[in-house]
Amino acid sequence: METTCLWHNARLTTLATDTDWGLVDNGALLVQGEQLAWVGPLDELPDELRDSVGAEHDLGGALVTPGLVDCHTHLVYGGDRAREFELRLQGANYEEIARSGGGIRSTVAATRSSSDDELLAGARQRALALMAEGVTTLEIKSGYGLSLLDESRCLSIARRLGQTLPVAVRTTYLAAHAIPPEFDGRADDYITAACAWMPTLQEAGLIDAVDAFCDTIGFTPKQTRRVFVAARALGLPVKLHAEQLSDQDGAALAAEFGALSCDHLEYLSEAGADAMRASKSVAVLLPGAYYFLRETQLPPIAQLRALQVPIALASDHNPGSSPGLSLLLMANMGCTLFRMTPLEAVLGITANGALALGLTDRGRLVPGNRADFVVWDLEHPNELAYWFGRNPCRRAVVGGIERAP
Ligand code: NIG
Ligand code: FE
Repeated sequence: METTCLWHNARLTTLATDTDWGLVDNGALLVQGEQLAWVGPLDELPDELRDSVGAEHDLGGALVTPGLVDCHTHLVYGGDRAREFELRLQGANYEEIARSGGGIRSTVAATRSSSDDELLAGARQRALALMAEGVTTLEIKSGYGLSLLDESRCLSIARRLGQTLPVAVRTTYLAAHAIPPEFDGRADDYITAACAWMPTLQEAGLIDAVDAFCDTIGFTPKQTRRVFVAARALGLPVKLHAEQLSDQDGAALAAEFGALSCDHLEYLSEAGADAMRASKSVAVLLPGAYYFLRETQLPPIAQLRALQVPIALASDHNPGSSPGLSLLLMANMGCTLFRMTPLEAVLGITANGALALGLTDRGRLVPGNRADFVVWDLEHPNELAYWFGRNPCRRAVVGGIERAP
């Protein structure tokens, strides 16, 4: 039998259901291997399980939550876009910059000219920053390579991070992010190529899901559909950058393919939200991009809530629209900018973030789930969405193993 480890004297926030925090005072977590074997008040721990305990950790009454899940990032890239930020502050807009060859394409150039070591070092620093705040599962998209070689390099680096750092990494293939210069004016041909690269990258074990950017400066719904058809043929789940800058009916299209999530959604229509409810897709809201692009159109939170579409929050970390590296700040912005409740915001960076990645084995402290949890220097979990610019993370356990501070 595997050794079991008892973490006790904790104020647990189990998030066992969506209706409340699931607080348990004087709580204990029994960890067996990578999993939670038992969760509850210590005095209810059955004797036979108590007898199996190998090691014990007294948490001194500290608050414990599930590990945080950042379900939407573009962590691997070269360069930065600080100059573009200045131009936008002087009045240039994001779409104009993209149309004139800047934006995503400038990051593609910087990524292609960076060595693997440079890309890895940059992405590693960014992953460490997210992890320092309690992130235990991290999604990383490609989309700044846009050739078979460069997409493969970026996805391999994302995989390498998951193998070398104490964080679970899920990779998403986002070749349909922008048209690379060598395909200028030939978007359909580029989509043909991006679909043709997919099986090669999948065989190399580099793809967990497939994404696209469906918008006026991205790809049309018709081109997006081709990407989804290719993904479905390979049995890969899809997600979509949908209705970020305009309503393209992208969410309804993604729903047709049973999308794990639709992300951004500022311009989501009622019909789009209905389609997401029917397909059980998660709405991934990205307040960092909303804030940094100085967007004024709010995603339809009340409607998503009324339809009981699960809502996640993510950093969308990327150099153009969201250069932030704090998932807790996203929880705070989810409340201040999007009027989410602190409970909704915390579910958004735990259980619903996991759901957006198709993962049902994490994000809640319940028996059978992965032993991913965080110990906080806080009294109540609503403070996770309250403080900003402060890191209250004390310790983190990933798959049953405590990572070094
Ligand atoms: O999620 N909208 C498309 N993709 C990214 C931004 C990419 C960029 O500007 O480099 C996003 O906002
Ligand atoms: Fe994004």
